[in-house]
Amino acid sequence: MRFAKRLDKVLPSVTLGLNARTLELRQQGKDIVALGVGEPDIHTPDVVSEAGIQAIKNHRARYTATAGTPELRHAICDYIKQVYGITYETNCVMASSGAKQVLFNSIVATSGEGDEVIIPTPYWTSYPDMVHLAGATPVLAETTLEDGLKLSPQKLHDALTPRTSALLLNSPSNPSGVTYTRRELEALAEVIGDRELWILSDDIYCTLLFGDQEFASLAQIPQFKDRTIIINGVSKTFSMTGWRIGFAAGSREAIAAMTRLQDHSTSCPNAIAQVAAAEALRQGPSLTAEWQATLIDRRALMLRLANEIPGITAVPPTGAFYLFLDVSKGLTEKYPTTMLLAEALLMEAGVGVIPGEAFGAPGFLRLSFAVDNATITEGLRRIATFMDKN
Ligand SMILES: Cc1ncc(COP(=O)(O)O)c(C=O)c1O
Repeated sequence: MRFAKRLDKVLPSVTLGLNARTLELRQQGKDIVALGVGEPDIHTPDVVSEAGIQAIKNHRARYTATAGTPELRHAICDYIKQVYGITYETNCVMASSGAKQVLFNSIVATSGEGDEVIIPTPYWTSYPDMVHLAGATPVLAETTLEDGLKLSPQKLHDALTPRTSALLLNSPSNPSGVTYTRRELEALAEVIGDRELWILSDDIYCTLLFGDQEFASLAQIPQFKDRTIIINGVSKTFSMTGWRIGFAAGSREAIAAMTRLQDHSTSCPNAIAQVAAAEALRQGPSLTAEWQATLIDRRALMLRLANEIPGITAVPPTGAFYLFLDVSKGLTEKYPTTMLLAEALLMEAGVGVIPGEAFGAPGFLRLSFAVDNATITEGLRRIATFMDKN
């Protein structure tokens, strides 16, 4: 028996695989410090869970419209107005089963055979695979530490061809935590000019920012609003990863196309989760303000401890909850790649991290600081000891 050709280029997710291994080792009784996790370490806020419980009790477990209930779509519009300062009608937004499905919908709806999708590196692990599944070609635009790990206007210019169908931007970034400023986005917009291409703007970490970093998206530039598809969700800001609600905003045509696709794939997202997500969005990002404030100290602690390790340089994150470490100078003959180093750190030092290979950035490791200070301290101690010995 054979499988469809489109799967040939699609690899299993390294991040999900490593997290599964971490769980497995823990179940075997091994003492593992997990710094690979990509989710908040708090529970979903009670008021949100309560809304879900009430939805079950009120028998709201039926199919809804594919794009989500009017209640949820109103809440999405209000939330976007609050966070982005831009207005969408309810028929210009839709809900899906996680931001992941929103991404998949947006890529499949805009790009196919013969099309190219520009993805700056380091990228979130699923992007190139999703582009392959759509039948299009990912064009990786490599960024360097000198660029601040951000796509420069020149590199964008070099990556554009008549076949470019979309540019996929993620800010704040998973894995690097770097965040584009409004001015940087305007410079990219200038390069794009009038070209017919979609901007897929993955803003899932939009509320998690540090220092005086402000959130910016190409959707906020008036000439770009209709060409941009906002990809967002409740997973990170509201600690609702397992509820699986994401949302998109864009032109009426883009949302209609993505809804058509979802009509024939998954229909509506979970009806109970829609009620809970609407409650979270109505409450707004301040609902998790206390947790967000803890990230400031955790970031500072992890950054300090990482930079104390010889051979490691940490990229100071301006958003999200990841620290991206350049360990290229610390690689040895025994562990010449970050893939092998991450494997050894897990098996021998008992610390789970994600290798840069998962993000198109070999030579780097991604650590999450959405864990408590004791976990950060112990994790970094183990990494320092291991690097010293090897
Ligand atoms: C950059 C980025 N986009 C999208 C997602 C997917 O989010 P969700 O869990 O809502 O599908 C994630 C989750 O890790 C992410 O980091």
